[in-house]
Order: sequence, then structure tokens, then C-alpha cells
Amino acid sequence: MKIFEWIQEASEKLHEVAGESSRLEAQIILAFALGKSRSWILTHAHHTIDPISINKILSRRLQHEPLPYILGEKEFYGKMFHVNRSVLIPRQETEILVETILQTHKHQKDISLLDLCTGSGCISISIKLNQPYWNISGSDISIEALDTAKKNAAFHNTDIQFIHSNMFNHLPKQQYDIIVSNPPYICKTEVLDKQVSAFEPHTALYANNNGLEMYQIISNEAKFYLKPHGLLYLEIGYKQSERIIHEFQSKNWECLNIIKDLSGHQRVLVFKT
Ligand SMILES: C[S@@+](CC[C@H](N)C(=O)[O-])C[C@H]1O[C@@H](n2cnc3c(N)ncnc32)[C@H](O)[C@@H]1O
Repeated sequence: MKIFEWIQEASEKLHEVAGESSRLEAQIILAFALGKSRSWILTHAHHTIDPISINKILSRRLQHEPLPYILGEKEFYGKMFHVNRSVLIPRQETEILVETILQTHKHQKDISLLDLCTGSGCISISIKLNQPYWNISGSDISIEALDTAKKNAAFHNTDIQFIHSNMFNHLPKQQYDIIVSNPPYICKTEVLDKQVSAFEPHTALYANNNGLEMYQIISNEAKFYLKPHGLLYLEIGYKQSERIIHEFQSKNWECLNIIKDLSGHQRVLVFKT
């Protein structure tokens, strides 16, 4: 079978899963399966291939497995991160958290930062790559996620301390200048796209109390882990802003900033005590 024939057939099959990206995804899957670049694929349309092993990879995508899990990587804040089914696939919205922190503190060289619920480590590693003198830690309840975060930190040659902890329970009694968190925040009754609910780790997605449980824990505990002028940066679900601000204000936090994502949803909240 020729490359262009395979791409045509695969694009048609992928349409239900990948919509308008089906042709691009077919090219990416083929490039991955052959160990070639996408530009090589595009310039070798008449090259003959054996479709059997390639179709095995295609069938994973046809069963709705997200492309980053198949490829084992996802780009975040301009860098590649290893991903697998123990970690949430880094989202574009989360780059806002990283960008906000880097912009706000760009002239500060001596900062200690905790990335609570670190997952793949994409937030802490992206910050460390841009502020190599900052002292950065990341924590997570999942040992498998922490293994992936350590692999990513080593891949990017960054020195980050990773801590296994259920929220604040096993953290050292240290105070940080910044705590950042993108915790699980999806309400357990919310119906998600199959690509998400059937493949991404449920501990990374769902939280009790209508998705607010982790914010309630953070609003109770984070002040003990922040320095007097420390700041808390949180990613939130797109309909949660009002309830979370109310929760934090009731615990004497002040909301300093609300940042919207590209769809206009309030996505990042900044608090101080
Ligand atoms: C939404 S993911 C965010 C991952 C990563 N920070 C990112 O932005 O892509 C939430 C992470 O919180 C972790 N987590 C869930 N419950 C936790 C808990 N009780 N204590 C600590 N981490 C928890 C999950 O394992 C997951 O890695």
C-alpha cells in the first residue's frame, strides 16, 4: 500500500474521532509508526508501506485513546513532556498559570514555589526552565504521576524536589513564596468526552463536593505553607469562579486577580491571605 492511500483511508476512518484534524492525525500516526518526521511522510507519498503494525496504532486512536498517550508526549509552554495514562495530558489553559507567575515575578530571583498536584510536572518544570534560580517543589498523591514528573524533570535537566503527599498531609513544614495548583476540579456527575473520561486518570479529574473539595482543602491549609506576603495561584473550572472566590473570602483570603482564558472563561485566580 502507498503512503497517500493509507493516509486517505485512515483520514476517513478518523473523521468521527478527530473531526477536522483527521488528516493531520493520520499523518502524525503514520510518522510515529514509521519513526519518520511528518515532512518525510509528505514528501514520500508514493513510498510503499506494510499497514499491519501501523493499523494497530490507528485502532487505538479509533477507540478514542487521546493522541498524546499514543505518542507518549505532549507539548506544553513550548517544550515536550512525557505523558502516559498516570498523568493528565497538559492543557493549553494551564499555560496561563505559568505565564501569569512568570510575568508577575519576572524580576524576583529568590523565590520558593510549591506546585501542589503536580501531575506530569509541566507547571513546575516550565517555571524552573524560565527561572533556574528559583527553589521549586512539586507534590502529588500519585506515585506513578510523580515518577513521570521526575522523568520529565530529568529530561529537561531541571532540579525539582518531588514529594509524595495527599494534599498538605505529608509536606515538610516549610513556607513558600508561591503556591500554584491545578487540582482535580470536575464534578463527579459531569459528563465528559469519552477521550477524557475513559483514558485520563480519574484522580486527576474528579473532586467531591461539586468539584470544589480540593479548593476547600487549599483554602483551609495553604496559609500555613505560605510566607506572610506569599501568593496563591489556582486554575479553576470555567463555571467555578464565584463559588471558589466566596469559599476563599470566607476563610479571610483576598482575591487579587482573575485571569480569563482565550474562550473568555475565568480560569486563574490569585489570592493572598
Ligand atoms: C488536574 S491534574 C493536574 C496535573 C498538572 N499539574 C497539570 O496541570 O497538567 C491534578 C493532579 O492532582 C493529583 N491529585 C489528586 N488528588 C490529590 C490529592 N488528594 N493530593 C495530591 N494530589 C492529588 C492527581 O494525581 C493529578 O496529578
